[in-house]
Amino acid sequence: MDRKILFFIGLIVLITQYVNCVPVDDYPNDDGDYMSDPKDESDYDGDEFESTDDNKSTTTASQSSDPTEHYIKSKYVAKGDVGKSVVLNCKVPFEIEEDTVIMWYNGTKIIASGSTHSDGKRIKIAKKDGSLTIDEISPYDDAQYRCRVFPAKSKDRYEITIELEVNGPPHLIRIGHNLKQIENVEGKKLTYKAGEKDLRFKCNVEHSRPKAKIVWNRSESLIDESKDHDIQIDEGLLTIKVLHAHHAGEYICEASNEFGIIKSKFELEVEYPPFFSRGHNYFNTEIGTDTEISCIFKATPQFDSAKWFKGSTQLHDSEKYVISNDMKNHHDRMKLLIKNVQKSDLGAYKCEVHNSLGTKKEEIKLDVVPAPPKFEGFKYINNVLFTDWIVKSHQELSSMQILYRNNANGWSQIDATITNSNRAEERPGEWKIQGSISLNSGEWEIGGRAKNSDGWSDDSEVTKIKIPKDSIESSEQTSSASSIVSSMVGVLIAFLLTRYFV
Ligand SMILES: *[C@@H]1O[C@H](CO)[C@@H](O)[C@H](O)[C@H]1NC(C)=O
Ligand SMILES: *[C@@H]1O[C@H](CO)[C@@H](O)[C@H](O)[C@H]1NC(C)=O
Ligand SMILES: *[C@@H]1O[C@H](CO)[C@@H](O)[C@H](O)[C@H]1NC(C)=O
Repeated sequence: MDRKILFFIGLIVLITQYVNCVPVDDYPNDDGDYMSDPKDESDYDGDEFESTDDNKSTTTASQSSDPTEHYIKSKYVAKGDVGKSVVLNCKVPFEIEEDTVIMWYNGTKIIASGSTHSDGKRIKIAKKDGSLTIDEISPYDDAQYRCRVFPAKSKDRYEITIELEVNGPPHLIRIGHNLKQIENVEGKKLTYKAGEKDLRFKCNVEHSRPKAKIVWNRSESLIDESKDHDIQIDEGLLTIKVLHAHHAGEYICEASNEFGIIKSKFELEVEYPPFFSRGHNYFNTEIGTDTEISCIFKATPQFDSAKWFKGSTQLHDSEKYVISNDMKNHHDRMKLLIKNVQKSDLGAYKCEVHNSLGTKKEEIKLDVVPAPPKFEGFKYINNVLFTDWIVKSHQELSSMQILYRNNANGWSQIDATITNSNRAEERPGEWKIQGSISLNSGEWEIGGRAKNSDGWSDDSEVTKIKIPKDSIESSEQTSSASSIVSSMVGVLIAFLLTRYFV
């Protein structure tokens, strides 16, 4: 709407009404919708009333040097719940009589005056006291209402301002998105390539009192920005600074207050060339057995080829090899079963995966020494660090060494005791090893290597651990070591010392 035209119309209306000695709404509406005032001229002396928002009308129509003297003002807050009725009292310090004129405003708009009103269904004005009843209130009724009282027998006018607060559940939610300029992505599936920057999603909640709390979930768990530096959440605004494969999923924005909860969701698909999971590059085998080796990877869009190589020779299904693909823990897996493994089968293999965004290769080693030990967890009791490891070896294990250092010094090593009873029954070729070291508190790096009848494994990956001062329990309790500690620590230590050092 052209403001100049609006202003001009307003001016004409003001002047006309002033000439007719009828008060006029001094709050021009946004959409220029002026409601006419009661034509009961006898009740008014023609003075315009003071203006709070708009100086135009004041300067145009005012006769008075101090316009505020015309209204005796007061203010209060009323509360109501969605769906119920609310009564807004027009509180004046005298009895409202038959010939008192009352006008009710919703924001800038007159909604009721005398016994007439604009919305016959939901609002009623009481003859007796001028109060306004609004039925079936909605969050949209959360607004500022005013009642103006013009007593017949006095020159005083009254204006009571009522802030109506409508409590209820959030009832409208939309997710806006910056790229693609989408106002509402609810129910949509958005696809971006990994590496895309600055994706913003704004969860907008309309009319919610009390204010709705907004949380973002991805695939049914809360998004934890402290664990992902590429995600930032600022109330309703979710920013993905750099898009990665793991950002794919269903995003849910949830707005709630004590009255209820409302959700909106969309799906984000991330495209990337294939990539392999770390830590699956070595397989232990025994001559004369059938052994399966595998590569675990992800690719979006879906991979269109997955090949196995030994050296530079591609392998195919045959009497020697069985090739297959499946899924494991939401990852793709390509498998190669090698039948009746011989010395000549040991060595390096290669996986090669292709999708529309690229080709990636991964090297896999097959040998008879154990796989590098995998650190499982630790427990620290009275200066002794108990560590747990998983070692893959079809052959009996003969030794296990634990390597340790703090940042200043070089590696030290100590032989660990193997608890043979912990050969994993359910997983043949897997061993659970426990080893202990006497260590002071502080930050340590630890690693390990294992030996079977065929030789030593490669060293494990290095794990950093932090041993707090005077601690009995450690922060990581991932394996059998966690069952060690009970309230009877003293008794247990004696037991453990015999178990580990005899
Ligand atoms: C009202 O008057 C004030 C002070 O004179 C001025 O700053 C403001 O812009 C005016 N507002 C309008 C809507 O004219
Ligand atoms: C008050 O005004 C708002 C905004 O125009 C509207 O949505 C609402 O229905 C109105 N309520 C009443 C009781 O007039
Ligand atoms: C969001 O995540 C929290 C915590 O994991 C969970 O309790 C809640 O049910 C999830 N909400 C949805 C809509 O997935």
